[in-house]
Amino acid sequence: MKLSARSLSKLKGVKPITMLTAYNCPVARSLEEAGIPVILVGDTVGMVEMGFESTRQVTIEHMEYHIGAVRRGAPDTHIIGDLPFGTDKDANTALVNARRLIAAGADSVKLEGPNVPAIQCLVQDGIPVVGHAGLLPQTASSFKQAGKTAPEAQQIMEGAKAIEGAGAFMVVLEHIPYSLAGRITQALSAPTIGIGAGPDCDGQVLVINDALGLGDYWPPFSKQYAYVSQTVLDVARAFSKEVESGEFPNNIIRMTGTHWK
Ligand code: KIV
Ligand code: NA
Repeated sequence: MKLSARSLSKLKGVKPITMLTAYNCPVARSLEEAGIPVILVGDTVGMVEMGFESTRQVTIEHMEYHIGAVRRGAPDTHIIGDLPFGTDKDANTALVNARRLIAAGADSVKLEGPNVPAIQCLVQDGIPVVGHAGLLPQTASSFKQAGKTAPEAQQIMEGAKAIEGAGAFMVVLEHIPYSLAGRITQALSAPTIGIGAGPDCDGQVLVINDALGLGDYWPPFSKQYAYVSQTVLDVARAFSKEVESGEFPNNIIRMTGTHWK
């Protein structure tokens, strides 16, 4: 059953919220089957799937493509779509682009930082908004932890409050000191979802490629539950060996039939 923004926000204090990113149909299908309540189609797609150096090269068209694929894989799951760099530069631009992500299949949109006019404008238009505070990859000059000094921590706290005040129903907290994330979580009535923000958030999000061990670098605060890059390497080597020896396609062994389920 698809959770609305309202029912997601009511989970604060009731149970921890699990969020994973997804960028394609088969992964989204597995996340839905696992009962993951909310999928983020993040602009991290640019780095972990498209090979860009940062998220800044991601366009609204890229996001529409990936949101569509995820929606087809997870028809009954709440999907958040990221507004990529520059597409929320003013309230009206944000509205035009948010409507595109909703039309592509998102249930809500996420944008970085206390962009109060944009958040208010989308909420007024009936588009649920997720905020994002702490490390803001679209504008940060490095991926170092944010909020280490007292003034910076204060700024992040005030930004998070402004995001909630503007009408966001949930706030992602990225790569900040655990104590600061705990204080923000206490200060807000909207749930906080942490990534590299410690245990005192209302939920946790991981980039799916990091959780899968798919890629060549994983942030230190992420956890690998598998090593899919190793599996891909093993498969490619095995297939190559079998083609060269003639084993494939002469001896196709199916382990699970022609369908996974
Ligand atoms: O784009 C993304 O995957 C994100 C998460 C890191 C929260 O914004
Ligand atoms: Na993002």
